[in-house]
Amino acid sequence: MNNQWMYIQTGIEKNAGTILLNRPEVLNALNTKMVSEIVQAMENFDQDQSVKVIVLQGAGRAFAAGADIDEMLDKNSIELELLNQFSDWDRIARIKKPIIGAVHGFVLGGGFELALCCDILLASQNTEFGFPEAGLGIMPGAGGTQRLTKLIGHTRAMKWLLTGERFWAADALRYGIVSSIVPDELLVEETEKMAEAIAKKPLLSVRLIKESVHKANELSLTEGMQQERKNFYILFSSEDQKEGMRAYKEERKADFKGR
Ligand code: CAA
Repeated sequence: MNNQWMYIQTGIEKNAGTILLNRPEVLNALNTKMVSEIVQAMENFDQDQSVKVIVLQGAGRAFAAGADIDEMLDKNSIELELLNQFSDWDRIARIKKPIIGAVHGFVLGGGFELALCCDILLASQNTEFGFPEAGLGIMPGAGGTQRLTKLIGHTRAMKWLLTGERFWAADALRYGIVSSIVPDELLVEETEKMAEAIAKKPLLSVRLIKESVHKANELSLTEGMQQERKNFYILFSSEDQKEGMRAYKEERKADFKGR
């Protein structure tokens, strides 16, 4: 793990670039500098040829218990406008490599919003999700009202956002917020397995699948299908498409080059 950062740690293993949120003494409360480090680390991994997939996880007993309340307490609207802190969050949507969120413990407020920025979410059984913002006299500001509503629908999103109630990983699985739940002690191992499986796939397939799925949230069905078809055609210009199909015919393991 690399300690060039103040609030996170990063490392690369088996083609997975890991970002560990590392402020366990405050349950990984996200302050501005920490978010900026997370986004910078993601961008570094996105540029790094040795990294195929990015993994985000939290140290201690939480993934992240929200934005840092101490940092926000005395802020006013003008300071927030000038700080423009959410522009860092916007950069996460431009990361081309898949991001796996491996969450446990508390996933609250801004922590939940960060989890919702991930492409795949694995949760350990003990994970508690929630949006406590309304109880603090604020509301989610990093995409929570939008991403949660698109994911689970109007009435369920309203319930969780307005009541601030916390809910368990089992509910998150039922609502499609997480892709799977694993026993607490297996979270790291299962995340590594998933990262490894993705890292073995040809880079361009992974990249264009991610791009196409993201477009599904933004485009009409017709536009999305057109986008998908273009990406499908593009892959036939890749060496990995020829290699993947030849290897299948020759009943051998494909040797993908990422081009
Ligand atoms: N900001 C700053 N500090 C936080 C924090 C946060 N979001 N969450 C926890 N901490 C700190 C606590 O103040 C405490 O610090 P001290 O030891 O110095 O007192 C430490 O982390 C441990 O927390 P607790 O002692 O409270 O632990 P607990 O197990 O009793 O409770 C908890 C855990 C229920 C998560 C509780 O800490 C809590 O309610 N935290 C706040 C959650 C919250 O409201 N998050 C939303 C923030 S607003 C937001 O995220 C806005 C946005 O959309 C961008």
